Amino acid sequence: ANNDVVVSGIRPTGVPHLGNLRGALQQWVDLQEKYPCFYFIADWHALFGLEERSREIKENTKKVLATLLAVGLDPEKSTIFIQSQVPEHLTLFTIFSAITPVGWLERNPTLKDMVRAEEPLPYGLLGYPVLQAADILLYKGTMVPVGKDQQPHLEISREIARRFNSLFGVEFFPEPQAVLNEYPVLPGTDGRKMSKSYSNVISIEDDHETVRFKVRQMITDPQKIRKSDPGHPDICSVFQLEKGFVDSAYSKDIYDRCVQGLLGCVEHKNMLADIIWQYLEPIREKYFYYLEHEEELWKIASYGNEKAEKVAKETMREVLDIIGL
Ligand code: ADP
Ligand code: NA
Repeated sequence: ANNDVVVSGIRPTGVPHLGNLRGALQQWVDLQEKYPCFYFIADWHALFGLEERSREIKENTKKVLATLLAVGLDPEKSTIFIQSQVPEHLTLFTIFSAITPVGWLERNPTLKDMVRAEEPLPYGLLGYPVLQAADILLYKGTMVPVGKDQQPHLEISREIARRFNSLFGVEFFPEPQAVLNEYPVLPGTDGRKMSKSYSNVISIEDDHETVRFKVRQMITDPQKIRKSDPGHPDICSVFQLEKGFVDSAYSKDIYDRCVQGLLGCVEHKNMLADIIWQYLEPIREKYFYYLEHEEELWKIASYGNEKAEKVAKETMREVLDIIGL
């Protein structure tokens, strides 16, 4: 539609990895050609998660920002900013906190994991879907690129938008919809989902030798001993990881050669390492450029922060007017 606005954030909780690049950021880059896009580094969310000490949040913010630019996000086409530098996120979060029943948050499916992981559960972490709603609705976001794991949170954003509109008798906030990613969830080097919590990632900082080494360590097909044995690509994480970087024709060709015993695992791993490196090398080069030119990096951030703040201030002016504060 004409009023479509894309909003998405990424938490600065570590060095970005291939899962983040293919699973999230590639889609961000594609969307910036068609829609107004607001992309932010979610440092408040990192703080609420308590996974990081705040010193690391700043360091990781720098790395994630460098990554956003390295993958091709354009500060002119997209509004790229740092959440904590636009204080209106917290103002709207507070207003939404006033109208969000605790029961909605207790229904959050990831709450069980959070209760287990955090001892004790911080109040802010319970409320993070409310902050997420504020993050999106501050820019009247209608489209939210999310990973498949994140859809339930967006339902709370829609409920909050509906509740605000009905409580105050306005058609003010849109109901944001998920935009699903075409890329599969990438496995890490141990076969589980690639995630920094599992230490199984290939990161944007890895050099060619490291990429080769990590791919070589991957488990392919435990039943395949000789090259001529038929392989089982469906359970092979080398094959699954490769899918994130090649087209379906390529993937099908590999599949056929593998099940016919025409492609050995060692050869396949070398091919995958090359494919990944071809993708990663230019991105990694730009990434290190920005880390080495910090002043330029922070200048780009300030530019985005100001662009975001303009829109955020306008929304908050309207919101305060609607609720009569
Ligand atoms: P991590 O699991 O390493 O902590 P995050 O939760 O910070 O990564 O994820 C940031 C973004 O990257 C999210 O949009 C998420 O859906 C996406 N993402 C993370 N890991 C993967 C993966 N292995 N495959 C595809 N997308 C991923
Ligand atoms: Na995660």
